[in-house]
This record gives sequence, C-alpha cells and structure tokens, in this order.
Amino acid sequence: MVLSIRKIGVVGGGVMGSQIGGIIALNGFEVVIKEISKEMTDKTYSLINENFSNLVTFHKNRAAKEIKRIEKNDQITLTEDQKIKLSAKLKPEFSTSMKEEALSRVTTTTDWNEFNDKDLAIEAVVEDIEVKKRIFNDLDTNTPKHAILATNTSSLSITEIASATSKPGKVVGMHFFNPPITLPLVEIIPGLETSEETLEDIVAFTASIRNHRVKMQPIKVKEVPGFLVNRILFAMLNEAFAAYEEGSASLGDIDLAMKQGTGMPMGPFELADLIGVDVLYHIQEEMRKMNGGNVMQRPVQILRKMYHAGKLGKKTGKGFYNYE
Ligand SMILES: NC(=O)c1ccc[n+]([C@@H]2O[C@H](COP(=O)([O-])OP(=O)(O)OC[C@H]3O[C@@H](n4cnc5c(N)ncnc54)[C@H](O)[C@@H]3O)[C@@H](O)[C@H]2O)c1
Repeated sequence: MVLSIRKIGVVGGGVMGSQIGGIIALNGFEVVIKEISKEMTDKTYSLINENFSNLVTFHKNRAAKEIKRIEKNDQITLTEDQKIKLSAKLKPEFSTSMKEEALSRVTTTTDWNEFNDKDLAIEAVVEDIEVKKRIFNDLDTNTPKHAILATNTSSLSITEIASATSKPGKVVGMHFFNPPITLPLVEIIPGLETSEETLEDIVAFTASIRNHRVKMQPIKVKEVPGFLVNRILFAMLNEAFAAYEEGSASLGDIDLAMKQGTGMPMGPFELADLIGVDVLYHIQEEMRKMNGGNVMQRPVQILRKMYHAGKLGKKTGKGFYNYE
C-alpha cells in the first residue's frame, strides 16, 4: 500500500454508512460520520450502538444456538463434553467492553471541517447522481490533496461522480454489500481516470480490515452497469417480481421456494425489503439508462409503485412485508 490510511470519514450514516463506519471503528480506526442534521447524526449514532449491541448478543448466544441447531437437524443429543468443546470453539469474540471501545472511536458531525485531515472518505448517501456530485465537490475542497474519495454507489457512474472533483485519479468505487457488518465482499470499481495507485491502495486497505466475522474481500470490477453482483442479482429479483405480478405464486411462497429450493438464506422479497425498495428502484433505473433502456426483458411495475407509495422495506416499517 502506497498511502498510509489512518484517518477516515464517512458521508451519510444511514443503513450502509452507519455499518461502514462501525466496521472502521471495529478495526481500531477513529471514524467521523457526516450527516445532514443533528437529528440524523443522533440516529446514526444509535444505529451503530444498536448494531454493536446485536453483535454482542450474537457472539454471546452463538454456541448455544449452534448446539440447538445440530441437535434439531441431526436429531441427536450432544454430550456435556461435546457441548463444552463446541462452546470453547465458538467462544464470544465481541464483548460489551469491546463494543464500548469501538463506540468511543465513533464521532458524528454536520461539519465539513472534520474532513480536512482525512486520508480516506467513503460516501454512502442516497443513490442520486446530483446529490453525490455535490458531495464529491464538497469533499474535493474539504479533504487533503492526497485523500482517496470512495463512493459506495450501487449503480452510478464512478467517472461521472469523479467529474465533480479536481482529482478524478483519487476517486474510486468501493461497493459494500448489505449488511457489510456480516458480508465481506467489496467491489472495487475504477472510473475512467482512477489512478492505478488509488486502485491498489483501496484494494490493499479493504483487504486489511475485517467485519465482526471475517476479513473483507475486495474484488476489482469494471465500471459496467450494475457492476458484478447487482447485474446477476437483478436478473433474479426481476424474475421474482414478474412472477409475483403474474400471480404465479404468492409472495411468501416465492420466498419459500427460493430458500428451500436453491438454498438462498433469504427469499427475493425479504432481500428486497432489507436492501430497500428505493435503493433497488434507483439501481434498476440506472442500469436501464446505461444499457439503453432494455436491461429488463419484462420491466416490472411493482417496484415503481411501491417506491412512490413510500413502501421502502424494513427502513420504513412497510415493504413487501409489514414490519410494524
Ligand atoms: N441499502 C443497500 O442494500 C445498499 C447496498 C450497497 C450499496 N448501497 C448504496 O449505499 C448508498 C446509501 O444507501 P443506504 O441504503 O445506506 O441509504 P439510506 O437512505 O439508509 O442512507 C442515506 C443517508 O444519507 C444521508 N444524506 C443524504 N444527503 C446527505 C448529505 N448531503 N450529507 C450527508 N448525509 C446525507 C441521509 O440523511 C441518510 O441517512 C447508496 O448509494 C446505495 O446505492 C446500498
């Protein structure tokens, strides 16, 4: 790694930004997260607090859960000795004191001044090209010359985002997957002008950090519509939405079918609610624009309708399923 990345800022502390900030803090770095108002910085901080608390509970309970799972699936009763061995193997790796330590490294702000000493800024605001360009313009003037400016965009052009700065060589896509606190993959996407040095620095940095379970896994992907995972994922999601619109099966049965028949951990509608209908809608629209309008063989209506009805999934309490 050419650049030593020590000081890190995140812009946008929603679903993704709060977890990305959390991961950075878990890796021993101080991190500042910028939001639009005091109300939103408070929300970001409590999201991180909640995520960390969930990790503590997960680690505390995972041995007992695994014992229960084995006994149920294999229809056996483990001996006390086997249970002790399994519990030792799955001992908690994240404690309340580790949570407090990690949390103490997180600060939030509404002020760009906090970015003037950063080596890396990761943007995770709404998937809107105009908003992102404005933010990259602000990042350009409020970060040191050497700073790498990364975007967590799911679908927008890295080259276009970089065009809002005076240093497109330092701009790169850093696409985490939801929930990054658990999923290790990060797509690293160079724009047309991203320098080789920036690309290598961000790949090396990503490979050097871990989420609460494993090391993060960077892969380099070209700047193409949907990058890699969404290109493949959207083909599947779109077919599930189309099947639902056609009335081929109920929503719950489509989810059940994909879980029980293909081993997916979540069904397509559960996944859509987790990702956010707004995020999916924006990605779909961008992919369609970039591909000349025909990425979906059968464009579905349900996503557009739900987006306009504000049924965005877990984050609003209502999506394909009701969470209230
Ligand atoms: N949700 C996912 O599954 C997922 C996965 C991978 C990538 N992404 C991408 O990550 C980005 C964020 O998605 P999200 O799901 O976290 O959205 P979100 O709506 O949960 O969070 C966005 C946050 O950005 C904040 N924000 C908006 N304008 C801002 C500004 N000018 N300055 C500071 N903060 C600002 C909002 O207040 C909000 O809290 C998008 O580009 C999305 O495509 C999302």
